[in-house]
Amino acid sequence: MLKISLVQFTPRFGDTSVNLRQIAALLRGVETDIIVLPELCTTGYSFLSREETRSAADGPEGKSAIFFQQLAEQHNAMVIAGFAERSGDKVYNSALIVLPGDELRIYRKTHLFSREKQCFDEGDSGFFVVQHPLKDCKIGIMICNDWRYPEAARSLALLGADLIVCPSNLVSDVWRIGMPARALENKVYVAVANRCGTETRELEDGSKQTLTFTGGSVLYNYNGEPLVQADKTEQRVITLEIDPLLTRDKSFNAFNDLLKDRRPGLYVG
Ligand code: ACM
Repeated sequence: MLKISLVQFTPRFGDTSVNLRQIAALLRGVETDIIVLPELCTTGYSFLSREETRSAADGPEGKSAIFFQQLAEQHNAMVIAGFAERSGDKVYNSALIVLPGDELRIYRKTHLFSREKQCFDEGDSGFFVVQHPLKDCKIGIMICNDWRYPEAARSLALLGADLIVCPSNLVSDVWRIGMPARALENKVYVAVANRCGTETRELEDGSKQTLTFTGGSVLYNYNGEPLVQADKTEQRVITLEIDPLLTRDKSFNAFNDLLKDRRPGLYVG
């Protein structure tokens, strides 16, 4: 069994110190095995240019990474958190994966959404799974808009993921149809840590861009059923226990197996 905690909150745009303090406060006293935080949870979301994104971003030795390493140690838990990553002259919309005991991995968002294409480089890490150091569970990572590309979750399932975690800054509600399908079609748990609140920025032409993030952080079981869900606006941590071993048998009747029945020779692309 494995305890997973999803953090839903409203980061303050451009104020990493405040955001890290808020994360620490929300998690005080939480006992868990995995903590999942939203996409870009250290900076907020609404970057308007590459220069602005670069100046807010940091690397794997930066303030955010150090904070999440300490958080992992304090909770003796794996931490997965979205952050703006600077690497040489590139800047990625990434997730830090921090394991207690210091090994650090980075997933870089594969499918950038909307204006992110002007602010970030396309992720080049590819998909991978991470073994939890203390529990029998393989965790795959995708970020927000990756949900729209079934190939992302399928790649993670083929790599053996029992649980797919998805740090998110979702601005529509259509994901509530698609995300559970990713769970069902791969027979994996899917955990969505979404943010809430709004961000308003002034654009170059003087008009305003307001984004409202749709909260509703949720853990779907391997049949795509929500086990627990936050509401659209509350700032909270939801914690639940799951049994990752239940995802390993991919059959759904005596004749069919989700992965073994695939016909890759007949698929296009
Ligand atoms: C998104 O990918 N942040 C919608």
